Amino acid sequence: MRITVTVDGTSYTDDVEPRTLLVHHLRERVGKVGTVVGCDTSNCGACTVHLDGHSVKSCSVLAVQADGCEVTTIEGLARDGELHPVQKAFHENHALQCGFCTPGMIMQSIDLLADNPDPDEQAVREGLEGNLCRCTGYQNIVRAVRDAAHQMRPGAGPEAER
Ligand code: FES
Ligand code: FES
Repeated sequence: MRITVTVDGTSYTDDVEPRTLLVHHLRERVGKVGTVVGCDTSNCGACTVHLDGHSVKSCSVLAVQADGCEVTTIEGLARDGELHPVQKAFHENHALQCGFCTPGMIMQSIDLLADNPDPDEQAVREGLEGNLCRCTGYQNIVRAVRDAAHQMRPGAGPEAER
């Protein structure tokens, strides 16, 4: 089937097998290898991207279901060399070790902050419960998301209270 998907602001038209998963399409045809496969069974969240603005596990979506949609991957977040505030917060709070879960964690975190711009620790943990990390113990990930929430508040800048 022929599909057209806008990925990180660029439109891609390709012929795909009806059974092709979105994550495989993104990695193998579009070249967005920042989106990774941890399990292929909807358990780990490593493959999370935004589909028309909301996070989805791209191993549980068919490429044909994204026809006509906009997909944002971890590679589409930085603008003009500036990291997204959530990317920055993960970096500054040491919220990653091997980094394998990080693309999915960040995409899911952005979606949860869109729903709840000021989450408490419990809300962050619940919002990220579909994303698994084998390395960090989650403590710094939670800290990073709450830090990003502070940074993203209107009027917040580098000097904003943390
Ligand atoms: Fe999609 Fe694990 S690879 S949830
Ligand atoms: Fe290694 Fe999360 S940093 S799996």
